[in-house]
Amino acid sequence: MANNLQYESQKLGTMYFTVAAILFGAQLVMGLVAATQFMYPSFLFEVFDFSVARMVHINALVVWMLYAMVGSVYYLLPDESGIETVGIGLAKLGFYILTAAVTVVVLVYILVQVGPADESTIWLINEGREYIEAPRWADIGIVVVILVFLWNVFATAIKGERTGILTVIMADLMALAGLYLAGMFFTDNISIDQFWWWWVIHLWVEATWEVFVGSLAAWGLIKMIGARREVVEMWLWIEVAMLFGSGILGLGHHYFWIGTPEYWWEIGALFSALEPVPLVAMFVHVVYDWGKETGLKKGAGEKATQNNAPAFAWFVTNAFGNFLGAGIWGFFHTLPQVNIYTHGTQFTSAHGHLAFFGAYATILIGMFYIGVQGTNGIKEMRSTFASKMGLFLITFGVLGMTIALTVAGYGQVLVERAQMGATWEAYFISQEALWFVQGMGWRLTMGVVTLVGFFYLVIDLLTIGKSNIHTR
Ligand code: HEM
Ligand code: HEM
Ligand SMILES: [Fe+2]
Repeated sequence: MANNLQYESQKLGTMYFTVAAILFGAQLVMGLVAATQFMYPSFLFEVFDFSVARMVHINALVVWMLYAMVGSVYYLLPDESGIETVGIGLAKLGFYILTAAVTVVVLVYILVQVGPADESTIWLINEGREYIEAPRWADIGIVVVILVFLWNVFATAIKGERTGILTVIMADLMALAGLYLAGMFFTDNISIDQFWWWWVIHLWVEATWEVFVGSLAAWGLIKMIGARREVVEMWLWIEVAMLFGSGILGLGHHYFWIGTPEYWWEIGALFSALEPVPLVAMFVHVVYDWGKETGLKKGAGEKATQNNAPAFAWFVTNAFGNFLGAGIWGFFHTLPQVNIYTHGTQFTSAHGHLAFFGAYATILIGMFYIGVQGTNGIKEMRSTFASKMGLFLITFGVLGMTIALTVAGYGQVLVERAQMGATWEAYFISQEALWFVQGMGWRLTMGVVTLVGFFYLVIDLLTIGKSNIHTR
């Protein structure tokens, strides 16, 4: 296939997108294995246990999103700075090293699974920290590759044009990468371990990743609907201030019950309750600009609404999904008075699914489509049947899973927490309760719908270039 991309950096970006899409598929398959085990606990018992399937599911999730984010930066960097990425040769080498390391880590997760309870396991098999279980040798490799990546970004932005969007991305990436270090040090006190672990998890998804998404949305609006840069960048700065202003101390909503001082109840309640505000702003920003800002011409004075229909549809889904999954489903359980009942139930999982999907998967899939548009040199890309089926089935599937999990979580809150007082016995009784069991069944069903949507998505990404040939 001919590659129409002008810059090597953009080609590298699409290589990152390809690996991201493959890992996304792996994530879904592992989710289905884990969901099946909820229904039939003996499924693959002692061959591929739930704990392993779950670990691969959520690690694949984090890694594919990081891949897609790094890919997005390599993709937009020459576009914003106006020059080829500085040190592109080293950047490519970094991609191959990282991808080889990720492959080895995944194979070890799948084939070795667990190790002895000593230091060697932390170094070679997994660290046992949810979402960031990568063994320490891989951690160190990741740090080196990310340092090269940061150098690429900074050197390019300094040499070429440094736009507002790039400035935000530069600052944000430094924080994002620096936080990873907080999850690398082992302590044998579980409270201290959790304290720092949340610095990575919460300060990633509720501060640095959100700011990253703000920057992507800003760039995407300029690219896809010709929005005015001054307007978009002004919004971006406001969003950054609000996101960091609420998200950083919002960290307190994870410090209610892990042995941290009680003042975190008030801090966590107040600041995390403010977190939906910037998400509303981001939503308004996209929808408002969509209606007003179109700077694209279609010829004869006519305005085009956008130049990449599938990507734009995913960006709009992001504005809704971020607000719903993070803002609404997050707000539901963020006050300590509520969280004392919902903590660690399927309610948390409902929020986790809709938030990761709504805030991140959507916009990153949108970036995949922008990559496909560039690679095929298409001026105005139209949706195909497969684009629509992919968007519809994936979104419908994840929403369905979220509702199923919310109902199951509600059942747990009532039976296990409120009625039976959160005892060990109560936990097992509520696992057998009708609403819980039905919720698990629907989650599995909707998971299959999601996977079917994923197949449409992949077929579309591979073929939409051809079907848009007439619009080049
Ligand atoms: C895109 C942004 C977000 C993502 C991806 C996300 C994801 C998650 C995930 C995966 C968990 C479960 C963590 C675990 O395994 O223990 C979680 C927990 C939590 N999230 Fe979010 N979240 C986001 C935003 C928010 C927002 C904006 C709020 C509040 C307004 C919020 C409130 C909470 C709370 C209170 C918990 C703890 C639940 C418990 O006690 O079990 N989240 N989040
Ligand atoms: C085929 C579709 C999927 C199925 C069947 C599925 C299934 C599961 C299962 C069974 C778990 C373990 C829950 C537990 O320990 O109680 C899980 C956890 C998780 N999944 Fe999925 N999943 C799917 C897709 C997704 C997608 C699309 C995302 C996000 C983009 C996602 C994000 C997560 C997260 C963040 C967790 C951890 C939740 C927590 O700790 O509260 N999953 N999933
Ligand atoms: Fe949080």
